Amino acid sequence: MSESQNIKSVLTEDRVFPQSAAFVSQARLDADRLAALHAAAARDHVGFWGDLAKKELGWQTPFTRVLDDSQAPNYRWFTDGKLNASANCLDRHLGARGDKLAIRFEGEKGDTRNYTYRQLHAEVCRVANALKALGIGKGDRVVIYMPMVPEAVMAMQACARIGAIHSIVFGGFSSTALKDRIEDAGARLLITADGGHRGGQIVELKRAADDALAQGCKTLDKVLVLKRTGHDVAFDARRDVWWHEIVPKQSERCDPQWVESEHPLFLLYTSGSTGKPKGIQHSTGGYLLGAMTTCQWVFDLRDDDVFWCTADVGWITGHSYVCYGPLACGATILMYEGAPTVPDAGRFWKIAQDHGVTIFYTAPTAIRALMRLGDDWPKRYDLSKLRLLGSVGEPINPEAWMWYHKVIGKEQLPIVDTWWQTETGSIMISPIPGAVPTKPGSCTKPLPGIAVEVVDEAGDVLTGKDAGGYLVITKPWPSMLRTIWNDNERYLKTYWGQFSNRYYVAGDSTHRDEDGYYWIMGRIDDVLNVSGHRLGTMEIESALVSHPAVAEAAVVGRPHEIKGESVFAFVICRGERPRGAEAEQLAKTLRDHVGREIGALAKPDEIRFADNLPKTRSGKIMRRLLRSIAKGEEITQDVSTLENPAIVKQLAGQD
Ligand code: WTA
Repeated sequence: MSESQNIKSVLTEDRVFPQSAAFVSQARLDADRLAALHAAAARDHVGFWGDLAKKELGWQTPFTRVLDDSQAPNYRWFTDGKLNASANCLDRHLGARGDKLAIRFEGEKGDTRNYTYRQLHAEVCRVANALKALGIGKGDRVVIYMPMVPEAVMAMQACARIGAIHSIVFGGFSSTALKDRIEDAGARLLITADGGHRGGQIVELKRAADDALAQGCKTLDKVLVLKRTGHDVAFDARRDVWWHEIVPKQSERCDPQWVESEHPLFLLYTSGSTGKPKGIQHSTGGYLLGAMTTCQWVFDLRDDDVFWCTADVGWITGHSYVCYGPLACGATILMYEGAPTVPDAGRFWKIAQDHGVTIFYTAPTAIRALMRLGDDWPKRYDLSKLRLLGSVGEPINPEAWMWYHKVIGKEQLPIVDTWWQTETGSIMISPIPGAVPTKPGSCTKPLPGIAVEVVDEAGDVLTGKDAGGYLVITKPWPSMLRTIWNDNERYLKTYWGQFSNRYYVAGDSTHRDEDGYYWIMGRIDDVLNVSGHRLGTMEIESALVSHPAVAEAAVVGRPHEIKGESVFAFVICRGERPRGAEAEQLAKTLRDHVGREIGALAKPDEIRFADNLPKTRSGKIMRRLLRSIAKGEEITQDVSTLENPAIVKQLAGQD
């Protein structure tokens, strides 16, 4: 959803959906209990989180200090406590839930595998022992570049078990993107697979990994390779180790390595408005607490749930709501490896039916795509086990919300539209399904213990009933990022610098209505949200100018019906501006080049060649103008301050 489209639909949206009586009667949190939580957090913010951390997490050494703000805004939580994330996700369920399913898995070709908590625990211990045998220990970085198979979760849990820091790179990223992340993290081990299945094709993970290693990655000693597809891949016996040769022979016992609460659990690279992707660093104790409490509050998660979060583990949503949160709660998760439309448009609904999915959590882009395929597909399947629907990653337009509500939710199921970020670690603003009425397109209200405000340009908090401005978080929370790996300066500047360290600045603009409901308007920085994936315009521009034919490039987002936003690039060539067939050919070459530099998800949908970019006399590119041009809007802005006003016509494709 583009900002202006969204504002338009938001301004005309006044429908309110009360929570369903059937849901309320059995909900973990009803309005009274929610009010009590909010009151407790308002009374004593730090104590509120301290009490929850004691109650929800298993500590090997209990903490005595809840919040250390002596180095603010580098906050530290539960500092003198020790715990292990994998012990919290697995070991503590072995007594009561040992024979309960932890993972139900289905591959694109229909292959299925199930793991009970006891089996998953044993597998994770084996993988952890294999990592140790490969020389990995506490604090070492391990990059994971895998398909969406149970072994990806095992690899994450195994790292956590021995105190190694994992950093997952989404399988859709290119070898260059993989190399950059391996190098920035200084990883010693890469865990990958021969390939994955997606859309009837093989995703060539091992080949990309080999390319990445050929380009650099000097810190890397070994590559652990899972055989998933079984197709032929290159294998360097000095460096590569097959998973099936090292893992099965390990012991199924591996005592967890107890780590300090602040010990980094993982790094996850995400795009910002400047420079290279940044390694968001998350802690062990605080992160896990956020993932767990939000599973309980927002998803009302309980023992008999089958929780399907469709996100890949390469994104933060897959970390918090596939791997850590639901397992820490002892739930059953569903993992599906492939595309939603293979072999046909009913696949998601068939999976939901066959596995008895009770909670379904996906992104608006998927909802819009499924909506387009028609109501007949979901109607063919028995979705009666579903009891809660969720949305994440981008603003959901009211039309898609209504379809989700009517066709999938049969007008009965609560929808939780959850706002959060890689940096926040867990959900920040969302309806509580048994307590908060919903409005299509609004993520409603902040969760207990999360202090959200709207501020203006000057950083003044807007208290009015109808406020629009920057979304900020005014108090630290346990699952917040701790820093940017290797770059604390950038952490301070990016998230805290704008208003002199007073607030965490999320980078989103928002509107809060008269009922205190939040409506997220989109990014205020140069970050695009394409199909719920964050992409920095700068990253794509650097990828484009790294091609020898390109002198300069400017990238903006354009509203797109399914993807939310699509990538639109204005390109200035080194020689003559190409035209006709030559332009088409170069556009294709550049698209493929971006695919190789970053990944297919960053390929521009449209490339327009021009002789110059619209620049002010001080040399600044007028991005606002480019955004209007990309949308095909009539140019009403004042272009007289441009150094080269005549260029506008050409950029608009009229010359
Ligand atoms: C956007 C994904 C509106 C927002 C968990 C944020 C949303 C960015 C929502 C973070 C939502 C996420 N409504 N916008 N419910 N959820 N966003 O780091 O712009 O991949 O800043 O984390 O996605 O994207 P990220």
